[in-house]
Amino acid sequence: MAILSFIVILAYILSPSSLATELDSIHVSQSLSDGMTLVSQGGKFELGFFSPGNSHKRYLGIWYKKIPVHTVVWVANRANPINDFSGTLTVKSTGNLSLTENGTETTFWSTISRKQAKNPVLELLDSGNLVLRNEGESNPKAYLWQSFDYPSDTYLPSMKLGRDLQNGFDWCVTSWKSRNDPSPVGFSLGLVLNDYPEFSIMNGTKNLYRAGPWNGLYLSGYPDLSYTYIFETTYVKNKDEISYSSNTKIDSILARAVINQTSQSITQYIWDDNLQNWKSFGSKPVDVCDKYDLCGAFSYCSVTEPQHVCQCFKGFSPKSPEAWNSNNSSQGCIRDKPLSCNNVTSTDGFVKYTGLKVPDTQHTKLHENINLDECRNMCLKNCSCMAYANSDIRGGGSGCVMWFGNLIDIKMFQSGGQDLYIRMPALESGLQHRNKKKVIITSIIGAICATVLLCVYVIYRVQRNNIEWSKAELFEGYVNDTDLPMFDLLMVTTATDNFSLNNKIGQGGFGTVYKGKLADGQEIAVKRLSHSSGQGMTEFLTEVKLIAKLQHRNLVKLLGCCTGGQEKLLVYEYMVNGSLDNFIFDRMKSKLLEWPQRFLIIFGVARGLLYLHHDSRLRIIHRDLKLSNVLLDDKLNPKISDFGIARAFGVDQTHGNTNRVIGTYGYMAPEYAINGLFSVKSDVFSFGVILMEIISGNRNRALCHANETLNLVGYAWMLWKEDRPLELIDPNIKESCVIPEVLRCIHVSLLCVQQHPEDRPTMASVLVMLGSKMDLVEPKEPGFFSCRLPTEVSSHSDQHNIITLNDELTITSLDGR
Ligand SMILES: *[C@@H]1O[C@H](CO)[C@@H](O)[C@H](O)[C@H]1NC(C)=O
Ligand SMILES: *[C@@H]1O[C@H](CO)[C@@H](O)[C@H](O)[C@H]1NC(C)=O
Ligand SMILES: *[C@@H]1O[C@H](CO)[C@@H](O)[C@H](O)[C@H]1NC(C)=O
Ligand SMILES: *[C@@H]1O[C@H](CO)[C@@H](O)[C@H](O)[C@H]1NC(C)=O
Ligand SMILES: *[C@@H]1O[C@H](CO)[C@@H](O)[C@H](O)[C@H]1NC(C)=O
Ligand SMILES: *[C@@H]1O[C@H](CO)[C@@H](O)[C@H](O)[C@H]1NC(C)=O
Ligand SMILES: *[C@@H]1O[C@H](CO)[C@@H](O)[C@H](O)[C@H]1NC(C)=O
Ligand SMILES: *[C@@H]1O[C@H](CO)[C@@H](O)[C@H](O)[C@H]1NC(C)=O
Repeated sequence: MAILSFIVILAYILSPSSLATELDSIHVSQSLSDGMTLVSQGGKFELGFFSPGNSHKRYLGIWYKKIPVHTVVWVANRANPINDFSGTLTVKSTGNLSLTENGTETTFWSTISRKQAKNPVLELLDSGNLVLRNEGESNPKAYLWQSFDYPSDTYLPSMKLGRDLQNGFDWCVTSWKSRNDPSPVGFSLGLVLNDYPEFSIMNGTKNLYRAGPWNGLYLSGYPDLSYTYIFETTYVKNKDEISYSSNTKIDSILARAVINQTSQSITQYIWDDNLQNWKSFGSKPVDVCDKYDLCGAFSYCSVTEPQHVCQCFKGFSPKSPEAWNSNNSSQGCIRDKPLSCNNVTSTDGFVKYTGLKVPDTQHTKLHENINLDECRNMCLKNCSCMAYANSDIRGGGSGCVMWFGNLIDIKMFQSGGQDLYIRMPALESGLQHRNKKKVIITSIIGAICATVLLCVYVIYRVQRNNIEWSKAELFEGYVNDTDLPMFDLLMVTTATDNFSLNNKIGQGGFGTVYKGKLADGQEIAVKRLSHSSGQGMTEFLTEVKLIAKLQHRNLVKLLGCCTGGQEKLLVYEYMVNGSLDNFIFDRMKSKLLEWPQRFLIIFGVARGLLYLHHDSRLRIIHRDLKLSNVLLDDKLNPKISDFGIARAFGVDQTHGNTNRVIGTYGYMAPEYAINGLFSVKSDVFSFGVILMEIISGNRNRALCHANETLNLVGYAWMLWKEDRPLELIDPNIKESCVIPEVLRCIHVSLLCVQQHPEDRPTMASVLVMLGSKMDLVEPKEPGFFSCRLPTEVSSHSDQHNIITLNDELTITSLDGR
C-alpha cells in the first residue's frame, strides 16, 4: 500500500499532467492550476500548463488534444514564464483573467475587458478560441475577452488577421523566439495600414516579404488560387475593421499556419490522419523574388531570368550599371526620357503590364468607386502619380488605386498576376507594350474536337535559361553529405549478366533498366544512364547523393550508384510486381486490381508526389510521371521511380524553363510540352492523367487509334459535360467500385488536367480532396484533349529526339545537344 502511494506521488511529481483533472469551463469561484486542463466541448483543443522544447519553465497554452504530436497553438504568458508548478489561472468577477503564483500576488499574465462583466465564465471553443463571456451570453460580439484577438505564432481557421479599427489593435501572428522560448520577438505577419492596405511579413518594423493587398480574389503576391479548393477566404473592410480570414471548407480537417523565425517563413500545415503527422501545405516566401525590394525602383523580379532576376521596365535603365552588372540591383532603374508633366503640352501616357504583383502600397490613394478610365485621367492630372490599377480585379475589374513616387517590389509571375499601368512619356507609351522576352503567339489548332474549336494561346519563350537556384537552397542551405554506397562496376556487371538483353526490364528516356542479382542473393534494378548526360562525374555524384536522401514509402529506394569509364549506373531496390501499366493495361492482370486496391494505389502515388513537391528539402519536380514509372512491391504498394533523374542527368531542376524537354507525350502538361515551362503543376497534370488511366483501364492515347478525335482526357471531359462520368469506369472494376469514391477521383482528375496551371490544385489539395467529402469546384476545360499533336509540339519535336516505346511517345531532347 505504501509502495503504491509512493508510485502515485512519484508519478505526480514527474508528470503533473498525468493525473490531470479536465474541466469544461471555469467560473469565478474556480481556478485552473498546473496539472489541470480545460477541454473544448468536442474535445478538439485543450488549455493547460506545459514546458516548450527542452525548457523547464511553465507556460499556460492551448494545444490539440486528440493528436499524438504535441502542437501548441497559443500561449498566454509568452514572455513571463513561471519557474515552477505553482501557476494558477483564475477568473475575476470583474471580468479579468489572471495567471498568478498560488498564494502570492505575483501576476504573470492578465487580461482587461472593456465590457461589463456579469457572472463571467471561461470556455475553450472547438475552434481553439479561448473565450471569456457572461453566463448565458453567447454572441461573439459580446465576449468579454477572446484569445483569437491575441494570436501567438499560429493562425487557426476562422481567426482574423488585420486591424480592429474600433478598439485600435492589430490581429497579427508573431514568431516564437526559439523552440524553447515562446517570447514574441522577431517575425510577424500582419496588416500594414496604407491607404490601399496590404499584408506583410515583418522583422520588427522592417518589411521582409510583402504578401500584398487583397484584390478581391487573392493577396496580390500569391496569385495561385489552388488553396480555394480547401479554404474559404473572407476579406472585410469597413469602419470597424480591416481583416482577412480563412476557414476550412470541412470541419474535420485540422489546419494551421505557423510563422517561424528560424525558417524565416510562414508555413501552412494539414494534419494527415494516415501518417499521424503534420504535412506542409505550402510555405511563404515562395522564391527569391518575394524578398522585399530586391530590385529597387522601376524594375521587376522574375525567376525565369535566373542569371539576373531583376529587370528594368521598358524605357528604364539601371541607375548604376556597374552595381547592376555585379548583381546588386538595390539602386533600381531610372527613366531613359523624362516625363513631360508640368509642361502645358503634357503628352504623358501609360504602358500596360500584365502578370504582376502590384508595387508596395505605402504611397497610394484608393478610390473604390471609380472605374479604370477615370482612374487614368485622375492619375494623369497629378505629376507624382506614377501608376494605376484596378483595386478589385473581380469580374473584369473595378475600383482605382494610384501609386505616387517610386514603384518598388514588383514581381512578374509565370502564370496569374494583375495588370498595372505605368506612366511613360509620350513616345514610349504610344508603343504597345511588348515584353522583350515574350512574344505571344496565338495558334489555332485545326482540330475540331466534339464541335469545339480548340484554341491554344502560347507564350513562346524566345530565350531560355537554365535555373540553378531552388527555394530549399536559398532558405535552408544544402543538406549535409552522407555516405552513398558505391557499387563496384564488376559486381554490377556480373549481377546483370553483363547487361544481357534477357535481364532488360525497362527502357526510358534516360537509359535502360536491367534486373540483377547480387552475390548475396539480393535482387536489384540497375538503371544504365545513356551516355549523353550533360554533366561531369563530380556533379553527377553530388546530385545522386542528394537524391539518395529522399526516402519515403512511396518512392523506390536508391541503394547506391556505380561509375566507371563512361558508365553511370543507379542501383535501386527491385520491385517484384513490376510497373503499374503492366497491371492496368493487361487484360488478365487488370482483373486482379480491384477498386479498393486501385484507390490505395492512387493515394500512395499522391503521397509520394507530395513528398517530392513539399516535404523533402530539395523540391523535386518529376517531369516524367506515368504509369510505367509507378512500380509495385510485393504487397502492391505503389512506389514512384525515376524521380530526380533529370537532376542527376544535369537538367535544370526546381521549376522554370528548359530547352531540354523530357517527358512522355500523353502525360505532359501543355505549358511544358510547348514552352518547356515546368512546375509542380505540370506534375499535377500528369497525375491527373494517371488517375484517369487507373479508373478507365485505358491509355490516354489509346482511344486515338480507333479514329477518335479525343484522347482519354477529352473523352472524360466530354462524359463529364454530358453528365455520364460513370461510363469512364473500367469494366473490370464495375463490381468492386464504390461509386462516390470513383466519382470523386474522376472529378479530382479533371481538376488536375485543367488547361491553366494556376487552376490546378497542388498535391496537398489533391490529397485532402480525395480523402474528404468536401464539395469540389467545377473543373474548367482541360489541356491537350485532342488526339492531334499540337503544331507547336510537332515543330519542336523536330529538334527533339523522339522515341516510340510501348505505344507511348517519349520526347527527349537529350541527344539533340
Ligand atoms: C494553493 O496553495 C494552498 C496553500 O498555500 C493550498 O492549500 C492549495 O491547495 C493550493 N491550490 C492549488 C490549486 O494548488
Ligand atoms: C479588471 O478589469 C477592469 C475592467 O473590466 C479594469 O478596469 C481593471 O484594471 C482590471 N484589473 C486588473 C487587475 O487587471
Ligand atoms: C522553426 O523551424 C525550425 C526548422 O526550420 C524548427 O527546428 C523549429 O522547431 C521551428 N520553431 C518553432 C518555434 O516551431
Ligand atoms: C531581424 O532584426 C534583427 C534586429 O533588428 C536583426 O538582428 C536580424 O538580423 C533581422 N533578421 C532578418 C532575417 O532580417
Ligand atoms: C544575384 O542576386 C540574387 C538575389 O540576391 C541571387 O538570387 C542570385 O543568385 C545572384 N546571382 C549571381 C550570379 O550571383
Ligand atoms: C548593394 O549596394 C548598396 C549601395 O548601393 C549597398 O548598401 C548594399 O549593401 C549592396 N548589397 C549587396 C548585397 O552587396
Ligand atoms: C514642353 O514639351 C514640348 C514638347 O514635348 C517641348 O518642346 C518644350 O520645350 C517643353 N517645354 C518645357 C518648358 O519643358
Ligand atoms: C498629387 O497626389 C498627392 C498624393 O495624393 C498629393 O499629395 C498631391 O498634392 C497631389 N498633387 C496635385 C498637384 O494634385
